[in-house]
Amino acid sequence: MTSAIGKPVSRVDGPAKVTGAARYTAEIVVPDLAYAVLVGATVPSGRVVGFEPLGPTDGLLAVLTHENLGKIVGRPQLLPSLVGGPAPGASFFPMQDDQVHYFGQPVALVVADSHERAQHAAASLRVRYERTASTTTIDEGRDQAFEAERLFGGLMPGRTERGDVDAALADAEVRLDLQFRFAANHHNALEPTAATAVWDGDQVTIYDSTQGIRASQLTVSHLLGLPLANVRVIANFVGGGFGAKAMIWPHVTLSAMAARHVGRPVKLVLTRPQTYTSNGHREEQEQTVSLGATRDGRLTALDHRKLSITSPFDEWAEPATGVSSQLYKCPNFRGVHRMIRGNTLTPTFMRGPGESTASFALETAMDELAVELGVDPVELRLRNHTDVDDRGNPWSSDGLPECLRLGAEKFGWDATSRVPRSRRDGNWLIGTGMASAAYPVPLFMPTQRARARLYADGSAVVEAGTQEFGTGVLTAMTQVGADALGVPLADTRFHGGSTDLPNVSSAVGSAGAGMISAAVHDAATNLRRQLIELAVADEASPLHGADPADVEAVAGRMQLRGDTAKGEHYGDLMQRHRLSEVEALGSWTPPPLDTPHGLLTFGAQFAEVAVDPDLGLVRVRRLLGAFAPGRVLNPKLARSQLMGGILWGLGQALLEGNRMDPRYGRWGAGNLGEYLVPVNADAPDVQVEFVSVADDVANTLGVKGVGEVGQVGVAAAIGNAVFNATGRRVRELPISAELVMDPVDSWA
Ligand code: MOS
Repeated sequence: MTSAIGKPVSRVDGPAKVTGAARYTAEIVVPDLAYAVLVGATVPSGRVVGFEPLGPTDGLLAVLTHENLGKIVGRPQLLPSLVGGPAPGASFFPMQDDQVHYFGQPVALVVADSHERAQHAAASLRVRYERTASTTTIDEGRDQAFEAERLFGGLMPGRTERGDVDAALADAEVRLDLQFRFAANHHNALEPTAATAVWDGDQVTIYDSTQGIRASQLTVSHLLGLPLANVRVIANFVGGGFGAKAMIWPHVTLSAMAARHVGRPVKLVLTRPQTYTSNGHREEQEQTVSLGATRDGRLTALDHRKLSITSPFDEWAEPATGVSSQLYKCPNFRGVHRMIRGNTLTPTFMRGPGESTASFALETAMDELAVELGVDPVELRLRNHTDVDDRGNPWSSDGLPECLRLGAEKFGWDATSRVPRSRRDGNWLIGTGMASAAYPVPLFMPTQRARARLYADGSAVVEAGTQEFGTGVLTAMTQVGADALGVPLADTRFHGGSTDLPNVSSAVGSAGAGMISAAVHDAATNLRRQLIELAVADEASPLHGADPADVEAVAGRMQLRGDTAKGEHYGDLMQRHRLSEVEALGSWTPPPLDTPHGLLTFGAQFAEVAVDPDLGLVRVRRLLGAFAPGRVLNPKLARSQLMGGILWGLGQALLEGNRMDPRYGRWGAGNLGEYLVPVNADAPDVQVEFVSVADDVANTLGVKGVGEVGQVGVAAAIGNAVFNATGRRVRELPISAELVMDPVDSWA
């Protein structure tokens, strides 16, 4: 019975957000609150030699440095907190010694009785450094590159191989060898990362702006050596994450250490510039694609390599080959990740981690192959479609051909206009381009848990320890709970945001809707069954003696299927039994990693651009994405997420990029004010289309996720459109003006 699932329900938290009632972490006020400000290193490598003592400073409570902070107890680790084990974001914790590894690394934490006083003291603190040589760009470290054995905190292999790529490339009728470059990116969530720690005896409550309250709890408990039961993490509303709030960065534990030190609650909000140095970034990278194909456009070999900068502590790289290894039928594949240790914070997940960059390389290469062979690019993708993944397992559900066809139809894809520079609108050159999109459906999470509760007045609450960071999870899970209980949506509330609730994993990898809905569905289903069992065993119930399998619940009422007059409301049954409330737990365990299915969410992206070849201006006129994300819990939310992903792709294609200044080992753009993101004026008409596919493998409700696939392929579609408009092939992101404008000597 699905009466709420699939409906375009408006956000249940919408009124709280638009009226300002929603409290974000930095807005939490508790009595006796003190304020901490981080002081970041102004050199990229070396050591702290000393601090100039601060003069008399009103309201100053503490200046914590490596000299007096105290040691953490647990050893930091890279990733397992996301998947269940104890560990923080990066295997580095600051202020444990005098060493400086990257620009912005916390070297002091200033605590005062007001935010302004803390800021003033932090700005006044003089730190002396001894600087040593640093490596902050690929060019500086190229000769020290090494092949990575494992990626993503050990979750994935660095190298994947099947067939004989070298032989197949040597024999290929057509061969392309292409190199791509990517500037680093930053997340720029609206809400800066923040934490507030409140101790009560040996128990600490942390308000954290995080994508994973449980990961935050595990991290603080592990690092401070506290029982898990003594750490509670709360995130009522999170103002965007995009991956920056997926790892648990040191400031969270630092807020708890500072609060313990000063004996007062402490709030620590990263400044906007600190969000560029303290919650990860997408790493500068290069990728190469060598592909071999037959003259009729069938891939025979694909060699995909990535080189990127990681931190001194962690072998972190976005995995670039998770999709390229299996998106198309290709008997010979090799994926290799190489890294350079640089003086940066550990890079991190960023929306579409790996695939958003990799798809630019792969889907640009496919476009170049289409041009080389004179085959329509949509047709080329269809020709290389595969029914099985890289292990030969069938897709849990597919939809790529349908997305390609539906997208082409809705976009008005014209296969005859593939000649570059063949369309004009005044001085604007017009071009169209497309790309496939795909994103993995992750299965890495442990068992997910949720709880459902019904009250005697007929109202219902479903709960799970997740957090709303803009995805609409509160709304979608309300829908899932209402349907599984058979209770009207208006009588159902979803409650999240606290580690006191049943545990679910961090919302990463587009997994949230699928994994949490499965647990919520199970909890609500268990509760419905429990009440139906009670009814059929109750002589006073109109359902007495019925087979529970014949009883359904609709609008808060249990009734006999086929004879719906027979039944009663949950509330009547509960009141008769003097039950003010009943509850049930539920859980969901993902299929094993070796499940005999391939799991990808598919889509297709189409773009129309106008390029002024004299000025190098690129205006995106239209974007259309068609997606097959499995069950859509709420089309309004799904459309909005996919549209956001597509617009993020526009930013990636044309605007977003940061470069290290190797002289200082710091970002050229140190703040949002110096980093371009799309604004409304850059945003064209965006059209989102759905292809319906049923998936029985991914999770209980067949939700494959819309969090990230919307972004994959957009940059390639735009780049391919730029080529179609101008005849200029850009293998670099962002695609900046100088890369697309006509050379001056061609000016007539
Ligand atoms: Mo998402 S970039 O996997 O947090």
